Formats: sequence, structure tokens, C-alpha cells
Amino acid sequence: MAVAKNTKNVAGRWHNIETIVKSVQDPKTFKQNIMQAAEVIKSGGLVAFPTETVYGLGANALDNEAAGKIYFAKGRPADNPLIVHIDKNFDIERIARDVPAGARLLMDAFWPGPLTLVLKSRAGVFSYGHMDTVALRMPKHLKAQLLIHHSGVPIAAPSANISGRPSPTTADHVLADLGGKIDMILDDGACQHGVESTVIDFSESTPKLLRPGSITLKMIENAIGKVAVAALNGEEITPKSPGTKYRHYSPKGKLTLVIGEPQISSAKILEMLQNSTSKSPIILAPTANKDLYANVPFIGLGRRDEEIAANIYAVLRRCDDDEHDEIFVQGVEEKELGVAIMNRLKKAAGANVLEV
Ligand code: TXA
Ligand code: MG
Repeated sequence: MAVAKNTKNVAGRWHNIETIVKSVQDPKTFKQNIMQAAEVIKSGGLVAFPTETVYGLGANALDNEAAGKIYFAKGRPADNPLIVHIDKNFDIERIARDVPAGARLLMDAFWPGPLTLVLKSRAGVFSYGHMDTVALRMPKHLKAQLLIHHSGVPIAAPSANISGRPSPTTADHVLADLGGKIDMILDDGACQHGVESTVIDFSESTPKLLRPGSITLKMIENAIGKVAVAALNGEEITPKSPGTKYRHYSPKGKLTLVIGEPQISSAKILEMLQNSTSKSPIILAPTANKDLYANVPFIGLGRRDEEIAANIYAVLRRCDDDEHDEIFVQGVEEKELGVAIMNRLKKAAGANVLEV
């Protein structure tokens, strides 16, 4: 494939594919670049594209071989199914069946937007992921919608990171993980929300929250009443959501998450920092708590939860780039969007979660 002027070319990795990066920020050229990406999807290739949550790694969802390449590029476990991204013209009955009224209500209320619904799937459509259900999402991001529209097929897309690493919220994050392994990246700058879509399972009799996101539990329950909540953070794993059982969102340094009142948790973090033998420790905390951390290595995560959610993955990646080998994170309050932020931080911390 020809390499255009505004293109970065990453070669020499083990997959050794030429990864073309095209900006979709210029109003004069974005349509033509999206059309080119749609051709890649149609011909069975892989395109990373922006969404309102994180960048996705897309392939034709109806082409099992193309979708299979996603697993190879990401190093994704074969039993972890993919979210299928659709646009407003797609007839979901083609791939889903027995769609309950509650799911329809949520589609009306929150699509397009950062909400994924797990539904019973029609037999024989997908051979990847080994599920008799399908997760559907209609993104709000205009460029994502255009890519789906011009591809003319639903697009299977997990987050465009190497499995286990923090999700990508910029095209550079994607390039760092998948350069040389995928055909194309559409660059639209930083993503708006930063945490992945809320996932609700409608494949059983009671709707269940499988992954919290920026469409909060309260917003969901306002629309359809009470929903069950899967064991989101503990050892207990719901077999309905394979992705939740793997270590996720992890930087290379050892990450410890400390939960408690700001004064108490910051004191604990400072004590651990003092006792730390690591070469380059760093503290991550809400920017509002900055004064609690004078004269120590500190990165502010942002002031409001919306800002923290949008920054969190970029900050974790920066910790890798700056070679911080030990990372202390002060948690946020687990309400509304804070639930999603803490869900991701707990996964990044694994067993290293301390309540004080
Ligand atoms: O915001 C998002 O959802 C982003 C963007 C790119 O759209 N995508 C994303 O995909 O986060 P991924 O693969 O990183 O996370 C999808 C999660 C995984 O935990 C997966 O196991 C779960 O959704 N999932 C996918 N299909 C499922 C299904 N049929 N049943 C249960 N869980 C499913
Ligand atoms: Mg992911």
C-alpha cells in the first residue's frame, strides 16, 4: 500500500506490516482518509480508529478470518469475544435475537453513545470468541460512524492496545503498541471519555452490569429500573464476561492502589514512598490533593472525575515511558463515574489494593 505524505511508517517489527497513520482532523481530507480505511476493512485488513471512549482495533465483524487477525495483533486470548460496532442503519436482528424491551429502551436512551449491550446472537454468525451472545455498540464518534457506514459492514473492535496494557486514548498509544502489526491508524487526537463503554448483559433473564463506564449505573437504572451488578473487582469472575478475568490496564511498574479518606490515604502513600527501595517511584493522585504531596514525585490525574477518566490511561503509559518502576495511586470516591475509574485502577493494581 502506498505511503502518503502525512504518513508515519513503522516497519521492522515482527509482523513487519507497513502501518499507515492518517489524520482525520483536517476537514478537507478526513473523508477521503476514512474512505481509504473503509477499503482496508472491506478487504479484510485491520484499522485502528477513534471512538468517544478509547481507540478501537477494527475488522469486518462478518469475516471470521479478518476478525481473527485482531487476536493475533493484540495477543488477545482466543476466548475473549469482541464488541461489534454498528451504525444507525444496521438491522440488529441480523446478528441478535430475542432482544428484550429493556435493551431497546437503553438503545433509545443512550445510542449512539458509550454503551455496549450483550444480546443473544443468531447461530453461525461468528466463530471467534466462542459465545452464543454478541456485544453490540453504536459509537457516537462521527469518524467512527463514517468508517462503519463506508465499510458497509459491522466492525468488530476491542481496544487497540496490546492485551493487558492500558487502553489507547491517542493514535500515538496505538502506534506504540501495534505499529508494524496493523494496516492503518486513523488519528483524531485524544479521546473524549477515556474509559471504555459501559457493558450491560441482556442475554439472561435479569439485566446485569458487566463493566462500568461513563453511562453510569444511576443513568441505566433511571431508564430501566434495577439492574444486577457483576462482581466487578474481586476474585469472583462471571463467566459471561471473559475479558474481566484477565489482568488489564497495567503499566510495567508495580502499581499499588490506596483507598481511603484523602488525608489518611495520602499519609499511607507517603509512608510507603519513604520505605520504597525502587529506583524511580511516582505518586498519582487527583490534582485537588496536590498540596498533600509537597516535594515528592507527583502527577495530578485531573480535577473532576471526567478529567481523571480521560487522563488515566495516558498517565499510566507516561509512567512506562518515564520508567517509573513503582507507582502509588490514590483512589477516587466510588460513585457515578468514579466507579468506572476505580474498576480500571483495581484491575491495573491486581492484588496490590490497600484500604486504609
Ligand atoms: O468503549 C469500548 O467498549 C471500546 C471501544 C473501542 O469501543 N472497546 C472495548 O473493547 O473496550 P474490549 O474488547 O477492550 O472490551 C470488551 C469487553 C471485554 O471485557 C469482553 O470480554 C466483553 O466486553 N465482551 C465482549 N463480547 C462479550 C459477550 N458476548 N459477552 C460478554 N462480554 C463480552
Ligand atoms: Mg480492552
